[in-house]
Amino acid sequence: MKNTVSTFLSMKQNGERLTEITSYDYTTAKLVEKAGINAILVGDSLGMTMMGYDTTLPVTMEDMIHHSACVVRACENTMVIMDMPFMSYQASVSEAVRNAGRLMKEARGHAVKLEGGAAVAEQIRAITDAGIPVQAHIGMTPQSVNVFGGFKVQGKGEDAAKRLLEDAFTVQEAGAFSVVLECVPPKLAALISKKLTIPTIGIGAGAGCDGQVLVYQDMLGMNMDFTPKFAKQFDNIGERMVDAFRAYMNEVQNGTFPTEKQSFVKSDCSDEYLAK
Ligand code: KIV
Ligand code: NA
Repeated sequence: MKNTVSTFLSMKQNGERLTEITSYDYTTAKLVEKAGINAILVGDSLGMTMMGYDTTLPVTMEDMIHHSACVVRACENTMVIMDMPFMSYQASVSEAVRNAGRLMKEARGHAVKLEGGAAVAEQIRAITDAGIPVQAHIGMTPQSVNVFGGFKVQGKGEDAAKRLLEDAFTVQEAGAFSVVLECVPPKLAALISKKLTIPTIGIGAGAGCDGQVLVYQDMLGMNMDFTPKFAKQFDNIGERMVDAFRAYMNEVQNGTFPTEKQSFVKSDCSDEYLAK
């Protein structure tokens, strides 16, 4: 079944939970596609997970186009949502439309995502009017880490909760087909999910959201130095990779790999040739 914006809306209407996960390359996206997850987010988290930056701020349009295109080539049924990087949409509405258009034309995914509520409502409206579906993202929006003074839970306290609820309505009104709620208190996230007609996709926002998203390295246990509180580790692939790398290294060093089994015995050059 091909996943589209219609899948997102009908699953919300039927009370079915949506699944979304990040990917940044062809191999991983193929595996996600095989699992049958609804959507891949090519998150600007790639700045941290794939490029080693300490925030998402240095990520460029070229980075996003490059990684998104790799993911798109792996996906038949999975919807591919591409993050708009820092400063590709904040400065003006026309720049936002042009950059969303570049992602669609050059990487060929199916939707874009951008961070912010009321502050970017005009951008969401204009991009949607240009024929590009927008996933909004409110709560702890990592591109604003310097305003928050760190990666902190948002929407705590009555004023902040009211603002977040208003932001959720504003992005829905502006035309977003779904909205990510990141690090939002679970009761508030559940309330927002109940009030909106578009699906909410939670990350660190409790079980009351219409769907969930995770960064794949976090949920696979590949991120050896840090796992955020909200990321359940479904496996310890990181340790298993290190074990496999060591096994390979040891077998090369002690001469047990390769054997005849891994060699092209039949098509080998003749003894005659070797004697020359
Ligand atoms: O960049 C990203 O991976 C994200 C998700 C964490 C929602 O924006
Ligand atoms: Na992101």
